[in-house]
Amino acid sequence: MSLTESSNTLYELKNVERKYNFKSNEVLAIKDVSLEISEGELLILEGPSGSGKSTLLQMLGVLDLPTKGSISFLGESLDKASDKVRTKLRSLKIGFIFQQFNLIPTLSALDNVELAMVPTKAKKSAREARAKELLERVGLSHRLNHMPSKLSGGEQQRVAIARALANTPQVLIADEPTGNLDSESSRQVMDLLRGLMTQSERVTVIVATHDKDIAKYGTRTLKVKDGLLV
Ligand SMILES: Nc1ncnc2c1ncn2[C@@H]1O[C@H](COP(=O)(O)OP(=O)(O)O)[C@@H](O)[C@H]1O
Ligand SMILES: [Mg+2]
Repeated sequence: MSLTESSNTLYELKNVERKYNFKSNEVLAIKDVSLEISEGELLILEGPSGSGKSTLLQMLGVLDLPTKGSISFLGESLDKASDKVRTKLRSLKIGFIFQQFNLIPTLSALDNVELAMVPTKAKKSAREARAKELLERVGLSHRLNHMPSKLSGGEQQRVAIARALANTPQVLIADEPTGNLDSESSRQVMDLLRGLMTQSERVTVIVATHDKDIAKYGTRTLKVKDGLLV
């Protein structure tokens, strides 16, 4: 991290645009977004379908780059970083959760979480111990050997959160994490996400949602409309 930057700035976006070329049309999914995100926030990006939330999250997740403007993450300018550096940032610093949970259906809850640690050098026993600890933390110590199909939606999403935390990311990016959940499970998932930055491993959380009720869980809410923050 550069010395001139305050140590708790995670992201800095300056006049970010993302244009898609789709057939002969141009879609300006993100028009002009400037934003700073600090460590320890639970930032909610709220907006209707098509407003550009997922596009913005993909750039924050270092999966995609702006077509104009700049993004720095942990003091590193992403547009100037090599593919190798970007891949490393993505795999070591960022965890993802999705509306569809994306668990592997043929693996138990424990194995789903453990699998995320296979690319690290950790031994099998250490991976398993950490997977158990994480599942305990999300309230699923009684579901370790259950297959995803035997878990409720809320439980599956909590497994996905445990998996996303496996390699101690600094940021957790969640795209419509409650989109497939009833209100009670949504509350549990959001309470859990909210707790992540107050516990020993401080994780900054960025959530995109179209659900206004989710906004109350944020430490900050930004509204997204037609590719702009409003
Ligand atoms: N890969 C793509 N190619 C072309 N257009 C896209 C692509 N991804 C998203 N878009 C368009 O960009 C706009 C924003 O989409 P998106 O970021 O998915 O919004 P949200 O997540 O808020 O629903 C929409 O008009 C969408 O159709
Ligand atoms: Mg979306």
